[in-house]
Amino acid sequence: MFLVTGATGIVGRPLIELLVSQGAKVRAVTRDPQAAGLPDGVEVVAADPARPSTLAACLEGVTGLFLNPRAAGLAAPELLALAKDHGVTRVAVLSAVNVDEDLDHQPSRFNGDRNKEVEAAAVASGLEWVSLRASAFAINTLLAWGGQIRAGDVVRGPYANFSEAPIHERDLAEVGVRALLSDDLVGRKLELTGPQSLTHEELVATIGEVLGRPLRFQEVPPEAVRQGMVGMGMNEAFVVALLARYARGAGQPAPVTDEVDKALGRPARTWAEWVTDHAAAFRD
Ligand SMILES: NC(=O)c1ccc[n+]([C@@H]2O[C@H](COP(=O)([O-])OP(=O)(O)OC[C@H]3O[C@@H](n4cnc5c(N)ncnc54)[C@H](OP(=O)(O)O)[C@@H]3O)[C@@H](O)[C@H]2O)c1
Repeated sequence: MFLVTGATGIVGRPLIELLVSQGAKVRAVTRDPQAAGLPDGVEVVAADPARPSTLAACLEGVTGLFLNPRAAGLAAPELLALAKDHGVTRVAVLSAVNVDEDLDHQPSRFNGDRNKEVEAAAVASGLEWVSLRASAFAINTLLAWGGQIRAGDVVRGPYANFSEAPIHERDLAEVGVRALLSDDLVGRKLELTGPQSLTHEELVATIGEVLGRPLRFQEVPPEAVRQGMVGMGMNEAFVVALLARYARGAGQPAPVTDEVDKALGRPARTWAEWVTDHAAAFRD
């Protein structure tokens, strides 16, 4: 039995679908089972990984744990100790490629994510562990640009020449499944990226090619972007850290690894494949 935290999230959902398709038994943790909408056959349990005592009853019979730092936060060491006491032997922990960078250079920390601490807790847990250090999720682009693309042919944003190597969330989930089901990846901190480094401008152009529309990226000065994002209610410290990350990396390629290919024995999905898989969301 596998216990999945962050089960209703971007990585958790495809991970669960893949585990189920491979015949694994899954117990999915959510704070709101009514809204979970998870596949048939998944045991959905109401608990909050950030309050590990709520999880104790869900750990019976579990051998493998998928640990999402956003869901567990600084409660991860307590959760992992509880898991070990209940017979869990392995943890696959979600993390990020920037986890060893200066803490102030990790924008998600300003929104509360504690990837570094949660990964360290997994490594120190005494369980078999695998860390999935992911690059930017491809789906970030849908969240950032989807509205503009549905409304017109111009995407306005900062730093046209900033590059990402976006990873298809399904590839990340597939590596997560491999981390839980096979022994191949145990003890590894896997730097998982998409197969291409592409600038904001190139990412938008490819979306246009897949949609059959002449999309283009129009650069907006960072200060105007800051005001716009904060005006939309986004956390200012996060916005400032994100723009600083763009300023530091502008004009440089994003690191690309072949760890997805090696873990899965096939090439990582390309950016164009991800856009094709999500074309309807850019059109609707
Ligand atoms: N986005 C990126 O580009 C990127 C790249 C690398 C690493 N990461 C890291 O990946 C993690 C996020 O993964 P994800 O996108 O799969 O997560 P997500 O979809 O945002 O959230 C996963 C689930 O966790 C639960 N959750 C969210 N906030 C919570 C909170 N404050 N307390 C308790 N439970 C909470 C929610 O489940 P319920 O409501 O059902 O309980 C949610 O569906 C973060 O640590 C992030 O830093 C992200």
